[in-house]
Amino acid sequence: MCGIFGVIGSRESSSLILDGLRRLEYRGYDSAGLATIQYSRNNQFGELFTRKSKGKLINLSNLLQKKPIQGHLGIGHTRWATHGKPNETNAHPHLDFSGQIAVVQNGIIENYRDLSKSLQLKGIKLISETDTEIIPQLIGLEIENMLGKGLLANGKTLLSAVQKVLTLLDGTYSIAVIWSKAPDALVVARSQAPLVLGFGEGEFFCASDTPALVGFTRTVLPLEDNEVALLTPLGIELYDENGNRQRRAPSLFKGTELFADKKSFRHFMLKEIYEQPETAQLWIDRYLPSDSPSENSVAFPITKSLVEKIDQIQIIACGTSRHAAMVGAYLLEQFAGVRTNVYFASEFRYSPPPVSSNTLTIGVSQSGETADTLAALRMEKERRDLIEDSNFSFHQLGITNRLDSSLAREMDNVIDIGSGIEIGVAATKTFLGQMLAFYGLTLLFASNKQKRSTKEILELSNDLRLVPKQLVDLIKKHDALSKEIAHMFVETKDVIFLGRGINYPIALEGALKLKEISYIHAQGYPAGELKHGPIALLDQHVPVISIAVPGVVYEKVLSNSQEAKARDARLIGVAPNGSESAIFDELFSIPKVSEWISPLLTVIPLQLFSYHIAAHKGLDVDQPRNLAKSVTVE
Ligand code: M6R
Repeated sequence: MCGIFGVIGSRESSSLILDGLRRLEYRGYDSAGLATIQYSRNNQFGELFTRKSKGKLINLSNLLQKKPIQGHLGIGHTRWATHGKPNETNAHPHLDFSGQIAVVQNGIIENYRDLSKSLQLKGIKLISETDTEIIPQLIGLEIENMLGKGLLANGKTLLSAVQKVLTLLDGTYSIAVIWSKAPDALVVARSQAPLVLGFGEGEFFCASDTPALVGFTRTVLPLEDNEVALLTPLGIELYDENGNRQRRAPSLFKGTELFADKKSFRHFMLKEIYEQPETAQLWIDRYLPSDSPSENSVAFPITKSLVEKIDQIQIIACGTSRHAAMVGAYLLEQFAGVRTNVYFASEFRYSPPPVSSNTLTIGVSQSGETADTLAALRMEKERRDLIEDSNFSFHQLGITNRLDSSLAREMDNVIDIGSGIEIGVAATKTFLGQMLAFYGLTLLFASNKQKRSTKEILELSNDLRLVPKQLVDLIKKHDALSKEIAHMFVETKDVIFLGRGINYPIALEGALKLKEISYIHAQGYPAGELKHGPIALLDQHVPVISIAVPGVVYEKVLSNSQEAKARDARLIGVAPNGSESAIFDELFSIPKVSEWISPLLTVIPLQLFSYHIAAHKGLDVDQPRNLAKSVTVE
C-alpha cells in the first residue's frame, strides 16, 4: 500500500523524491517522510537527514521548504498505516539505534513481534509502534558486528548486512535502505511487494510503481521476488536470494499516459466517470470490431483450444473487482453455460482443493498488485502443481488495467482492460473495463461451447456496440440530476441498495462507492433478502435505491421496492421511465435495454450519486480517508 521512492545520482535528491512520491500518493497518504545523505568532503562519510510529517504529502513539502535538506542520495515514503497510528513517529523512514541507517518499507513484517522482543533483549529501545523499525535496528546490529570483524564501512558492507537481515524477515514487503557511512549506496529488496528500478542518465532510482519513474526515465527493471539490488552512482548490481549476481536487461516502458491530468474536472473521479464512453469504445474497437471476419468474434489473446478445454471457472478478486467478477459469473453461467464461482481473494485459501483439471482460474485486479488476490492465485498454482497427474494442468487468466503489474507478469494469459490510468481511489472506469472483459469472455465461451444461437450472440455483440453512445447520454443526464439532489442526502446516515440477478452486484457496487467516498453507511442486498432482516432498519430516514430493469426479475424487484416504500423509506429507482417507475420518489432513468447489458448502464447513476454527495460534503473524493488505491498488504 505504501509508496517508496529512492534516488542516487548527481542531483539534489529531496525535490526528485517529492516528485516521485507525488505520483505514488495514491498508495497511501496518512503521513510521509524522507531521508537524505549529504556527502561531506572533509569527512569520508556522509551525514543523514530526515524529515517527516503527518497527513498528505503537501505537509512534507511545506516542511521541506522551511527546513530543506541536501544530498544526492535519498529515500522517501508515503504511508498507509498498518502498525501504529498515522503520526510523525510512525512515519517512515525509520532509523537504527545509531541514527545512521534509514529504512522505508512497503508491506508487513509478519514476525516483527518476535524480532522486537529479541532486539529488546539486546538492549535496543524501539521508538515507533511500527513493524518496520525492527529492520534498521537489525541492520544496525549486523553492521556493528561486521565492522567489529574488520569489514570496511562501504556499500558492499551495507549490502551484506541487508542480505543477512532479510533471512530473518517473514512477510510481504519491499524496502529501501541507506547508511550515512556508505554515501554512494542505496540498497533495495523485494519480497512479494512491488519495486521497480529505473535507469537514468548518471542516476538510478527505485519506486513502488512505474508511473513514479516515468518523469525521470523510461528504462525500467522490475525486481523479482527475493532479489536485492545495490544502486550506486555508477550502476546497479542485482542479486538473487542466495547472493548470486543476476544479469537481466532493463526494458523500455511504453505506457503513454502515465501523467494524469484532471483537465477541467474538479476531481479525478468525475473525470474518470466521464471517460467511460471512451473506455467502452476503445474496448469495442480492440476486442469486438464490427469489421472482424466473424462479426461476433472477440479478439482476446486466448486460444480457442484453451476455451474448449474449460468446463469450470473460478474467479478471485477483491472490492470493486469482485463485483465485476460477479457480473461476469452471472453472464458466464447464465449466457454461456459455464459453471463459475467467485471468491473473495482473502477467503480463497479456505476454499475446497481443486478437483477438476478443466478449471480456469481468473484473477481480476485493476492494479494487478492487490496482495490478497496475488496470494490466492499463487496458492492455487502451488496446490495444483502438487497434483501428480499429468492430465491435471493449470489454466490461469489475469484481467487487469496494468500490463506492467505483478498479476500480468505472473499469469499465463492476460486481458488488458485498457481503461487508462485511474487516479481516484474509487474505481469507476476500470470497473466498466473489467465488466466488458467478462462480456468478451462470455461471447467467447458461448460461441465456442455452442450454448447460444448465432442470433443471440450477435444480439449481445450488437447491444454492446451501442453502449458507448448510451453512456455519453446517461453520464450527462445523471451528473446534472445527482448534483441537484445531493444536498438532500448530506445528513443521511444509512442507505440500502437493492438489486437482483445480474444487477445484484451493481447494488453492492453502488453501496461500496457511497461508503468509500461519502462515509455514509450503505449496504447492498439481493432485493429478495430485504424482508429477511434488513427491512427492520427502514423508516423515513433510510433511503432505498432499487435497480429495476425489465427482464426476468423486474416484477419481483418492483414488489420488493413496494415493500420498502410501505415502511416509509424514500425510494429511489434506477429504472427505465414508464408507468411502473411512478412508485419511485426519485428516478435515475436508464434506457430500455436488454437485461444482459444493463449493469454497464445501471452503475452510472450510482457512481454519480456517490460522487456528488461526497463533493457536496466537501470531502476528499479522490483520496478518501483510510483507503489506498493499491492494497499491497494481505
Ligand atoms: O486493484 P484491485 O482491483 O485489485 O483492487 C481491489 C480493491 O481494493 C478495489 O476495487 C477497492 O475496492 C476500490 N477502492 C473500489 O473503489
